[in-house]
Amino acid sequence: MNTTDTHTTDTYAADAHTTDTLGTSTAQARSAVLEREIRRDPGRFRILTGDRPTGRLHLGHYFGTLHNRVRLQDLGVETFVVIADYQVLTDRDVADNLTEVVEDLVLDHLAIGVDPQRSTIFTHSAVPALNQLLLPFLSLVSVAELNRNPTVKDEIAHSRQSSVSGLMFTYPAHQAADILFCKAHLVPVGQDQLPHLELTRTIARRFNDRYGNGTPVFPEPDALLSAAPLLLGTDGGKMSKSRGNAIALAADADETARLLRGAKTDSERHITYDPGARPEVSSLLLLAALCQDRDPREIAEEIGAAGSAALKKHVTEAVNEHLAPIRARRTAYAGDRGYLRQVLREGNARANAVAEATLAQVRTAMNSHY
Ligand code: TRP
Repeated sequence: MNTTDTHTTDTYAADAHTTDTLGTSTAQARSAVLEREIRRDPGRFRILTGDRPTGRLHLGHYFGTLHNRVRLQDLGVETFVVIADYQVLTDRDVADNLTEVVEDLVLDHLAIGVDPQRSTIFTHSAVPALNQLLLPFLSLVSVAELNRNPTVKDEIAHSRQSSVSGLMFTYPAHQAADILFCKAHLVPVGQDQLPHLELTRTIARRFNDRYGNGTPVFPEPDALLSAAPLLLGTDGGKMSKSRGNAIALAADADETARLLRGAKTDSERHITYDPGARPEVSSLLLLAALCQDRDPREIAEEIGAAGSAALKKHVTEAVNEHLAPIRARRTAYAGDRGYLRQVLREGNARANAVAEATLAQVRTAMNSHY
């Protein structure tokens, strides 16, 4: 959702160095175990995940993370979705049109099937008790620990701020509050968020050790890494709103057709699925495959000698067909801003109740219940 190309759905490009040192393969193995446990007993788990409100969601977000949220919700896992409207200020001085962007994010979630009766969508700026957790949490981490977070370093390198703000530096601890306020067990994220998850676990552990008196206040949450597919933008680069190469969920069928007609391919006529040698063609095949729940190789074989025009036509039809019900729902909800605000108000009320209960426990544990 970000436009700095460093977060969740841009994970695919996260460099090997960053992720290897943080044990991506360990997290992946653990995620597979967790997936089995979720299937066995979804009611045992609570999930928190979220995004920075930086713009409308696109197909990269959808197949990367959003799809998975709906899947987990539908399996029966209690789900919280934070719209991280303070975190958005980490890499920009002013967040423009925030109300509209936040409402659009709610809209995109409702359109893809997030059900506000079963999932809690909230903005963290509306939950004071969540934010208050930041202060004790910050006391549990060192400046050196904050300083060596590779994702933050990367974001600082890409920041559009004239100088690095204190918020940028401390936001992973704030993210720990996002996760721990509701005592989430699972956090579905991309690899780039693993350092934040590690810090969250550290904070939970240290809090329990220091203040728990034998009864842990916080669970140590796990990352739930999903096998995020590598979808490129129409120019062959990373799909990103700021590059103008993304297909938004909100785009209509004609715009989708236009964007895909202009998509970069290569000079080889015969269509084959070969992500290494033919990234653009393969990404288009993958997009069609994801929409149709098919194998991209099979689609490639079908198109074969018909070439890239036929491929683009196929992808356009697949995307438009898959998104038709989502877009219809989106249009229906878009006409009712009052309803969107109500969804947020109710989500915020629920999040506040949970956060206040947690803060009360924290006060008791810290002997600051006056
Ligand atoms: N840092 C995440 C991103 O940039 C957004 C986020 C904020 C988040 N709080 C969270 C993700 C808590 C998971 C859990 O995309």
